Amino acid sequence: MSASAIRPLPLHDDAPPSPIVQLRLVEKRYGEGESAFTALHEISLSIPRGRMVALVGASGSGKSTLLNLLGAVDRPTIGTITIGGRDLSKMSDGDLALFRRRRLGFVFQSFHLLPSLTVFDNVAVPFVLDRQLTRQRRQDIDRLLARLGVADKSQRYPDELSGGQQQRVALARAVIHRPDVVLADEPTGNLDAATGRVILDLLVELQREFGVTVVMATHSDQAAARCDDRIRLADGRVVTVEGAVEVAR
Ligand SMILES: Nc1ncnc2c1ncn2[C@@H]1O[C@H](COP(=O)(O)OP(=O)(O)OP(=O)(O)O)[C@@H](O)[C@H]1O
Ligand SMILES: [Mg+2]
Repeated sequence: MSASAIRPLPLHDDAPPSPIVQLRLVEKRYGEGESAFTALHEISLSIPRGRMVALVGASGSGKSTLLNLLGAVDRPTIGTITIGGRDLSKMSDGDLALFRRRRLGFVFQSFHLLPSLTVFDNVAVPFVLDRQLTRQRRQDIDRLLARLGVADKSQRYPDELSGGQQQRVALARAVIHRPDVVLADEPTGNLDAATGRVILDLLVELQREFGVTVVMATHSDQAAARCDDRIRLADGRVVTVEGAVEVAR
């Protein structure tokens, strides 16, 4: 990764961006037989590249279930999901693990940093696993931690950091490898309102600068309003989309 790679990408010109995420008739059922529960019904969506997308809806409407499918953490019961042109249903579990590491980024409500690793090493994990932790990448990590205001925590462990600081580190980890898509499940949910606003501001800035697509589940109307697009779920169905996201036919 070179310094020039940090240039902002021209994401909001007039040309319609190509879809980075496509879902076709996706259904997710939990359990079997009498106790089966369908958490998502016939979801068909097309999400353009380089957007900040809010996923909203009441508790239990299926937001986290959908993020788990997009994050290849779980597979749909029926239907197909394509990310960056790759059909996830055609990939083995091993391929999916690699895909998650290289092409996706994750931000969680409760941070999910690895407690036994320093801040720096938490961000470096994917590069270490791929034996790609070059001097350039070390510099990129140092620069990003500085940019996020946690350079002085680089050799600290997650439990020595405040929640807001941990989420800054999680943001760095989510974007450092320039994934296709960052999936964020209530990233401000465990933070006080002021800290949550700062984290959201940083997420928006990184989304623009790194040219990634973010899909963020949120209960916050303010956070949803900051996004380019909104998908509203109710009882496992898409009820409205706003912005450049389309309900695919
Ligand atoms: N592992 C599971 N087994 C059975 N049912 C599940 C499972 N996970 C989720 N569900 C059900 O699927 C529905 C959708 O859950 P999901 O967690 O996706 O909702 P959500 O929109 O993320 O809610 P919240 O805003 O509270 O996080 C809920 O009715 C939930 O009970
Ligand atoms: Mg949820």
